[in-house]
Amino acid sequence: MNVRANQSQPPSETRPTVATAPGKAILFGEHAVVYGRPAIAVPVTDVQARATITTGERGTGVRLVAADLPAPDGRPGGRRYRLRDAPADDPLRAIVELALAAFAPGGPTGAGVGGLDSEPDLQVTVTSTIPIARGLGSGAAVATAVARAIARYFGQLPRSDEISRLVYEVEKLHHGTPSGIDNTVIAYEQPVYFVRGEGMKRLSVGAPLSLVIADTGVVSSTREVVGDLRHRWQAQPERYEGLFDEIGAIARLARSAIERGDPRAVGRLMDENHELLMTIGVSSPELDRLVKVARAGGALGAKMSGAGWGGNMLALVESHRAQIVADALCQAGAASTIFSQIS
Ligand code: PMV
Repeated sequence: MNVRANQSQPPSETRPTVATAPGKAILFGEHAVVYGRPAIAVPVTDVQARATITTGERGTGVRLVAADLPAPDGRPGGRRYRLRDAPADDPLRAIVELALAAFAPGGPTGAGVGGLDSEPDLQVTVTSTIPIARGLGSGAAVATAVARAIARYFGQLPRSDEISRLVYEVEKLHHGTPSGIDNTVIAYEQPVYFVRGEGMKRLSVGAPLSLVIADTGVVSSTREVVGDLRHRWQAQPERYEGLFDEIGAIARLARSAIERGDPRAVGRLMDENHELLMTIGVSSPELDRLVKVARAGGALGAKMSGAGWGGNMLALVESHRAQIVADALCQAGAASTIFSQIS
């Protein structure tokens, strides 16, 4: 990764530069999307990552402050480190280097930040209300906020596709074979119908969708779940290709149900999608229990969301039932719930 920072001058503007990015939820098609089938995802603006850039003292280089992560010695106040001291695969280091290379003045130097004579003097502070490793896109949101803030700091207004492309590079560090859906929905901040390699298609939402998003409290690694499924697919390609086809067909039907504003049909399709996610082995007892509780509480449909084996599930509800369903989910052991209206 290269950076063009040796010619970079901090702008005369020294006020902090702030940018945010939302979380995301996958409504249909997770996992099958890695294998080329369509998927549907929406931004969840009720949770946010935020990046703040301030000009540091001369000669201090880039300093990173991950304010919500405990320090290595366990003390509160955030994890603080110098960019050049971080391992090359540190996601924050990666997005800062990519964003400097893209947006700081001057040309790429061919050297990493650590090898530069004059690294820009910046402090990059990251905070986030998006739960980490629960399928809500926290990694992609943090990277999006950082890339936007660095662009803004250097007076640039990048297009969403430019931000999405940089964040995709960082997603590869989180798990080797990302479909690109997380960086796309978060960078565009719009509901998307996504097919790997085909870019972004905006999805119009015919009638608002009310979602209760419930956290199992179980942390899971996207890389592990995706890798485990890949092994099963390699062992039985025909079986899994058939299941991915079924999931893709559901995502196509869901697209038209969402566009024509038919939440009941969307709910039924969520139920069907969840059954298939169970069959391909990415759900968990905790997710299945919350899905059942949501349906019993009157949800129009419910499914796990994201990589699975933990993380969050979604319940589609009529808005007047949202609180009832959320209460039932909490009583059944959900660690927290978020209400989100998608339009
Ligand atoms: O990282 P998560 O939990 O948002 O899951 C990503 C969605 C997958 O389809 C499982 C992987 C991918 O790259 O699309």
